[in-house]
Amino acid sequence: MIPGLDHVLFTEEQIDQRIREVAAEISRDYQGKTVKLIGVLKGSIFFLTALARRIEVPVQVDFLAISSFSNKSGAPGVVRIAKDLDEGIEGDDVLLVEDIVDTGFTLRYLLQTLAGRAPNSLAVCTFLDRNSRRIVQVPVNYRCFEIPDHFVVGFGLDYNQLYRNLGYVAVMKPEKGH
Ligand code: IMP
Ligand code: MG
Repeated sequence: MIPGLDHVLFTEEQIDQRIREVAAEISRDYQGKTVKLIGVLKGSIFFLTALARRIEVPVQVDFLAISSFSNKSGAPGVVRIAKDLDEGIEGDDVLLVEDIVDTGFTLRYLLQTLAGRAPNSLAVCTFLDRNSRRIVQVPVNYRCFEIPDHFVVGFGLDYNQLYRNLGYVAVMKPEKGH
């Protein structure tokens, strides 16, 4: 185990199996359509590429980047787009792909922004869901795993920009967590 990590939460095999299942669900639900996967940089790219390879309907991909920061009182929830999509989404069947939905602030902001661009449909697929910390209610259409309230890294998720490349998901040792 890498120093700083406490234990593995999901192995590569478990992740691969679960992604196959979710991709099969998506392929069924989008039968006859083209699904546009929108990834939120940088965390979601590892999950998005793994998912896209298992989806059996035509797939397009585009990316945006956000920066989130606390407001003056220290409360979270201030989000802005740091890099927008390359192409418009009007009339598209958009599936927003996230690494993790935690408080829900990021997702709420992204859904409001994207909904304003008149896609034909807009749904959410997240790799991890930490529902116990949700502050704002947001719709999650597809999720790979529900996780407990511990800070996790790997498969795209970082701590100080490290650990994204791990093939598994691990819980950080408590003193390094948030
Ligand atoms: P929220 O849902 O707006 O609170 O923000 C979720 C974002 O916080 C994710 O996209 C991650 O970038 C980050 N995040 C939340 N929990 C974790 C974690 O356990 N590990 C790594 N990043 C996390
Ligand atoms: Mg993120």
